[in-house]
Amino acid sequence: MSRPQLRHWIVAALMAAAAVLLAGPAHAETESQTAEAPAEAASAPAFTAKGADTCLKCHDEDTAVPVLSIFKTAHARAADSRTPFAGHQCEACHGAGDTHARGGNKDPVPPIRNFGIGKDTPVAEQNATCMACHQGGHRTQWPGSAHDRADVPCAACHQVHAPRDPVMTTASQPEVCYSCHRKERAELMRPSAHPVNQGKLACSDCHAVHGAPGEALLASPTVNQTCYRCHAEKRGPFLWEHAPASEDCGLCHAPHGSNQAALLVQRPPWLCQSCHAAEGHPSVAYTGRGLAGTTASAFLLGQSCGNCHSQVHGTNHPSGATLTR
Ligand code: HEC
Ligand code: HEC
Ligand code: HEC
Ligand code: HEC
Ligand code: HEC
Ligand code: HEC
Ligand code: HEC
Ligand code: HEC
Ligand code: HEC
Ligand code: HEC
Repeated sequence: MSRPQLRHWIVAALMAAAAVLLAGPAHAETESQTAEAPAEAASAPAFTAKGADTCLKCHDEDTAVPVLSIFKTAHARAADSRTPFAGHQCEACHGAGDTHARGGNKDPVPPIRNFGIGKDTPVAEQNATCMACHQGGHRTQWPGSAHDRADVPCAACHQVHAPRDPVMTTASQPEVCYSCHRKERAELMRPSAHPVNQGKLACSDCHAVHGAPGEALLASPTVNQTCYRCHAEKRGPFLWEHAPASEDCGLCHAPHGSNQAALLVQRPPWLCQSCHAAEGHPSVAYTGRGLAGTTASAFLLGQSCGNCHSQVHGTNHPSGATLTR
């Protein structure tokens, strides 16, 4: 035996020994579960005797959904007693699969619980399976939320077999959402937009996707509170508030994106004039007609209200009553 061959042999032998050591207790556990099983089995279908080992005889990385990569995820931490792999393994999610496993060579194959859009397993049953372990935390708001009401399965967003679930990563999340939310895809492609497509923030930084008490699944109870999570300097309190800014950022900004600079819903001066009446000083854009106490000012020609009223979000300057400083 050459040295490299010898080394391979030793490594292989060590790995085999390790596999026996690791597999031993796991099998013992599965067996002890099946020992309890008969009581359950009286009415319900039976679990397989060997759990994942049985399933993996027929399902592996080459099937449509690569199955093995689940072993790289949090679900496969058998040492964590809360995970599927500490219990019935594959069948903790897919349901008791003895009949399926035994008939897996026949045509048609006996059914087993399956996840995703358009699968035979009803969405309510799919989601109840996940919720059996995940009803806490963010999911307390799930029942009755927009996605629950619309019968969206957990697996429409989550890929539990993937080594990294795309919806959990800022950069890959938008594509998951866009598969259903086309309008938002278009909005976030506009010239001025929150840099979601650039991976700087995620939809889920503004939206509590599992459910929220307020409108549009916003992460905070109101639009403004959601914006303040990142734009805290706009919160105030200000000595001189601008009423619309304190009320709803969405009066002037399109939260996803816009064709105007700074996500504005319209360009100033028309934005401003949508609320400020045509009477008196501020009325006429692009001319100086009616500017307080002066004749026509070159300032105004082709310019915007913001040139003078720069503090549209509110100001603490003692003489900032008209939001000019
Ligand atoms: C004897 C081989 C065999 C065994 C063992 C087996 N399966 Fe299957 N399974 C199949 C075949 C064949 C299909 C249908 C073709 C396909 O989708 O790959 C299938 C389909 C599935 C599906 C998709 C069902 C659907 O409705 O689309 C799931 C999920 C599944 N198996 C999970 C499991 C799990 C979990 C186990 C272990 C408890 C298991 N299988 C054991 C052969 C097997
Ligand atoms: C038997 C219990 C159990 C079931 C069933 C279960 N999970 Fe989990 N899941 C866990 C545990 C435990 C963790 C790890 C939590 C932790 O690390 O705090 C986890 C983690 C996760 C995570 C976070 C993964 C990460 O990388 O941080 C997601 C997403 C998830 N599960 C989704 C699902 C979905 C979707 C389903 C249904 C298809 C499901 N789970 C079914 C127990 C379960
Ligand atoms: C609309 C898409 C979507 C749906 C549907 C969805 N999730 Fe999530 N889920 C996410 C996103 C995005 C995150 C990461 C950001 C966050 O935690 O809000 C996440 C995170 C998680 C996590 C890990 C973080 C945590 O809160 O512990 C778990 C577990 C989870 N989801 C379980 C579920 C379960 C169970 C369901 C079905 C009842 C479900 N999800 C339905 C998008 C979704
Ligand atoms: C945490 C729950 C969970 C566990 C544990 C789990 N699966 Fe899955 N499985 C899913 C979900 C959800 C899908 C749908 C695709 C996805 O989300 O990645 C799926 C998809 C599949 C598919 C593809 C079905 C199809 O549509 O063609 C097979 C086959 C499968 N799983 C087999 C297994 C096997 C084998 C194991 C054990 C090694 C296992 N699963 C463990 C939740 C789980
Ligand atoms: C499988 C399709 C699907 C996927 C994937 C999906 N959604 Fe949804 N979403 C819906 C449906 C259907 C509704 C309810 C109908 C509606 O209001 O448009 C909804 C509603 C919403 C709402 C609330 C709208 C309202 O007016 O109350 C928000 C916000 C939302 N989704 C965000 C997201 C985000 C963020 C993601 C990605 C993490 C996502 N969705 C992934 C289908 C989906
Ligand atoms: C900067 C925060 C922010 C980000 C990032 C964001 N949204 Fe929104 N989204 C909002 C606000 C604010 C609303 C509107 C709430 C209102 O006025 O009703 C909204 C509304 C929605 C609605 C409901 C639209 C309607 O017509 O009722 C959906 C669906 C939605 N967002 C999906 C998404 C998706 C998908 C992403 C990621 C691709 C995303 N959002 C990213 C803040 C955000
Ligand atoms: C999760 C953090 C986050 C939240 C929440 C958030 N934003 Fe932003 N916002 C950003 C980032 C990042 C930028 C880009 C800053 C840059 O490019 O320097 C930005 C930029 C902006 C811009 C300036 C765009 C420009 O071209 O100058 C406006 C206006 C804006 N956000 C409004 C809002 C509004 C309104 C809300 C609430 C609906 C909100 N933001 C919520 C992170 C956030
Ligand atoms: C009355 C209309 C109006 C309202 C309401 C409004 N904004 Fe603005 N916002 C503007 C205008 C106009 C600009 C462009 C100013 C410029 O070009 O310097 C702007 C610019 C911004 C910018 C980018 C430049 C900067 O100042 O950082 C951010 C961020 C921003 N707004 C956030 C918000 C948030 C958060 C809210 C809600 C608290 C809000 N805006 C409410 C009109 C408004
Ligand atoms: C959604 C409606 C709305 C929009 C859009 C709007 N404003 Fe206002 N603005 C108000 C309200 C309401 C007040 C408070 C009026 C009052 O207290 O009498 C106000 C007050 C002001 C004041 C202080 C006036 C005073 O007498 O104290 C100035 C200056 C002002 N706005 C400028 C602007 C500019 C510049 C824009 C465009 C960037 C703008 N506004 C867009 C509604 C709006
Ligand atoms: C050349 C600078 C300048 C420009 C441009 C300008 N303003 Fe003014 N505006 C002022 C000054 C200075 C005052 C304070 C006048 C006073 O105290 O009598 C004022 C006062 C106001 C007031 C409060 C006084 C009132 O009439 O009730 C409003 C509202 C206002 N401007 C809105 C606007 C709007 C809307 C635009 C754009 C169409 C605009 N302004 C453009 C300088 C300007």
